[in-house]
Amino acid sequence: MPAILNISNLTKRFGGLTALNQVELTVEEGSITAVIGPNGSGKTTLFNVISGVLSPEEGSILFTGQEIAGLPPHKIARMGMARTFQNLQVFPSMTVLENVMMGAFRHHPSSLLSGGILVRKSQREMKEMRQKARRLLEKIDLIEWADQRIEDIPFGIQRQVEIVRALALKPQLLLLDEPAAGLSTKETVQLTKFISSLQDRELTILLVEHDMALVMQLAQRISVLNFGRKIAEGKPEEIRRNPAVIEAYLGKKGGESLG
Ligand SMILES: Nc1ncnc2c1ncn2[C@@H]1O[C@H](COP(=O)(O)OP(=O)(O)O)[C@@H](O)[C@H]1O
Ligand SMILES: [Mg+2]
Repeated sequence: MPAILNISNLTKRFGGLTALNQVELTVEEGSITAVIGPNGSGKTTLFNVISGVLSPEEGSILFTGQEIAGLPPHKIARMGMARTFQNLQVFPSMTVLENVMMGAFRHHPSSLLSGGILVRKSQREMKEMRQKARRLLEKIDLIEWADQRIEDIPFGIQRQVEIVRALALKPQLLLLDEPAAGLSTKETVQLTKFISSLQDRELTILLVEHDMALVMQLAQRISVLNFGRKIAEGKPEEIRRNPAVIEAYLGKKGGESLG
């Protein structure tokens, strides 16, 4: 499988702190790849650099063969990359359907987002987008929630809606930053199934996660960060047994599960 993302020698500093230290990472097309590591190891920073929120000091990020390091987020998004955030980013008073429509707006000729409010454009445009969002929710088995307000549905489903909204942009690569954050064990199991159901030939997923159990079930390949450095890479079973990984996790908090 060819690589959709090829990162080499990536370094990001915040003043004297090196949050990413010469990181190398390859993501194969169609895979679910995970980056794990203790809190503060640089996972979110890595996503921020990949998605253009931050510029790296050094290094290269090839996305579908094109250099994207230092490009602004909207350009990278247009090239086919979408992401979710560690803290849930949805519009609570809007319905599930409207939230998913928001995701599709960037694909539409006229932007409909104005100060977080849905601005009515042409009736035809709105109808078309509504239908697209419905089809996506149907495909992904969330249609039963379509007309409920986000604030009225369970948190686990809100997380799934956030992911579906990112999919409305039809990305080639989807970045998920700690999708299980704040979820109960039961909700995490549901989310694991949900993410696994998204994997197909057209979609590659790069996942950053603290929850080892989720990652072990989902990812075909795992890279491990510790203090901004990649300390291990391999298949889930290799990572689970890797002494450096066990030490990074256990050493830090004295007893986190390796799933
Ligand atoms: N904007 C920032 N300014 C300064 N330091 C930051 C910033 N963002 C992250 N850091 C620091 O960089 C390190 C990595 O953070 P982060 O990428 O959020 O880790 P993770 O997502 O793995 O928990 C931490 O020490 C954090 O305090
Ligand atoms: Mg983080």
